[in-house]
Amino acid sequence: MDKEELEALLELREIQETKDGLNDNSLICECNCLSKRDIKEALILGNLQTVELDFLKERLGLGSGCSSCIKNFDSWSKKIF
Ligand code: FES
Repeated sequence: MDKEELEALLELREIQETKDGLNDNSLICECNCLSKRDIKEALILGNLQTVELDFLKERLGLGSGCSSCIKNFDSWSKKIF
């Protein structure tokens, strides 16, 4: 696969992820500037395969601002993995 094919594939993946509602750069917690990627990486590094809110609060400070990300937990938590 050459560079152009790889870029086209990555672009298609980004479009598909965006269609699903979130891409890796989508901000989950705007107050703490935490993206879907940040959350996924923290969970993977913590050997977690499900979204553990308490872990994310402690590890990343998720929800320590306005807490709207916590109120919307049900809408984004199923789209992390
Ligand atoms: S959006 Fe997460 S604390 Fe405000």
